Amino acid sequence: MPAYRSLDPCPLGDQTIDERTDVRWGVKMKAAFITGSSKGIGAATARLFRKEGYFVFLHGRNIKDLEALEKELGQKDSILAGDMANPEEIDNICKSLEDRVKFQSMKLQALVNNAGLFHRQKATDQRADYWESQFRVNILGPARMTERLIPLLSQGSPASIINIATTLGMRPAVGTSAYGASKAAMIHWTSSLAVELAPLGIRVNCICPGLVDTPIHAFHTLPADEKEKVKADLKDLQPLGRIGEASEIADSIFFLASQKSKWTTGAVLAVDGGINLK
Ligand SMILES: NC(=O)c1ccc[n+]([C@@H]2O[C@H](COP(=O)([O-])OP(=O)(O)OC[C@H]3O[C@@H](n4cnc5c(N)ncnc54)[C@H](OP(=O)(O)O)[C@@H]3O)[C@@H](O)[C@H]2O)c1
Repeated sequence: MPAYRSLDPCPLGDQTIDERTDVRWGVKMKAAFITGSSKGIGAATARLFRKEGYFVFLHGRNIKDLEALEKELGQKDSILAGDMANPEEIDNICKSLEDRVKFQSMKLQALVNNAGLFHRQKATDQRADYWESQFRVNILGPARMTERLIPLLSQGSPASIINIATTLGMRPAVGTSAYGASKAAMIHWTSSLAVELAPLGIRVNCICPGLVDTPIHAFHTLPADEKEKVKADLKDLQPLGRIGEASEIADSIFFLASQKSKWTTGAVLAVDGGINLK
C-alpha cells in the first residue's frame, strides 16, 4: 500500500495522497456517479474515473458484482444499489447519494446515465411488454434520477452529465424498434437538458456506442474460440475492422466529463468503429 498509510487516519478512507492533501486544505474531493457500473461499460468507466482520482459511486442490482468492484477500487460506502425501473428505488438512491456527498464533503461533478436494457424483439412478434421495460430503464428512470440530482450537480459545478445511448437510436435495425426508440428519446433529451442546464454550469452530452463486447450480448460469455468466430463474423460490418471494448467507451465518457471538453454541450458522439456510416 502507498506511504499515506503511515499518516493520520483519513476521513475518506483509502484515498490517494493528493486527495488527502485536498481534504486537509479544505478542497472538496470530486465524485462521479455511474449507473449500471456492476459490469460492462459502466464498470470500465468506474475503473477509469477512480484511476483519475475520483471517488466513484457505483450502481446496479447485482450486489456481489458491486462489492467485488468496490473492493477492487479501494473504496468504502460507494454502492447505491437499486432498480432503474422503480421510481421509489430511484428516489432512495438519490437521497442516499445526496447524504453521502454532503457528509463526506465531496463535489458531485459527473453523472453517467449508463444503466440500460436491450431486448431484441420484432414488432411482428406482437408483444407489447418489451416496450414498457425498456422505456422505464433506458429513459424514464434516467430522467427521474437526473432531475432529482440537478441541485447536487449544480453545487458541484462545473459538472457534466453523460448519457449512454446507442447508434441504434439514430438508425433502424431489425428487432430493435423499442430499444432504438427509447435511446432516440435519450438523444433528444440530451439536447433539451443541455440548453436548460447550461446556466447552472452543467454540461450534458451523449455517447452512442456501436457494438461493444460486454455481457449485454449473449456472445460475451461464449468459450473463447466460439466468441472469436462470432467477432470475426461481425468484422465486415465495422469500417474500423472490429467490435469495440468497454474501455474505449470509458475513454470517451471521461473526455466528456473532463475540462478537455469544457466548451462542448448537447453533443451526440458516435463511438462505434464507424458502423453508423454504413
Ligand atoms: N454493449 C454494446 O454493444 C452497447 C451498444 C450500444 C449501447 N450500449 C449501452 O451501453 C450501456 C451499458 O451497456 P453494457 O453493454 O455495458 O451492458 P451490460 O454489461 O449488460 O451492463 C448493463 C448495466 O446496467 C445495469 N442495469 C440493467 N438494468 C438495470 C435495472 N433495471 N436497474 C438497475 N441497473 C440495471 C446492470 O446492472 P445489474 O446487472 O447489476 O442489474 C449493468 O450494470 C447501456 O445503456 C446500453 O444500452 C451498449
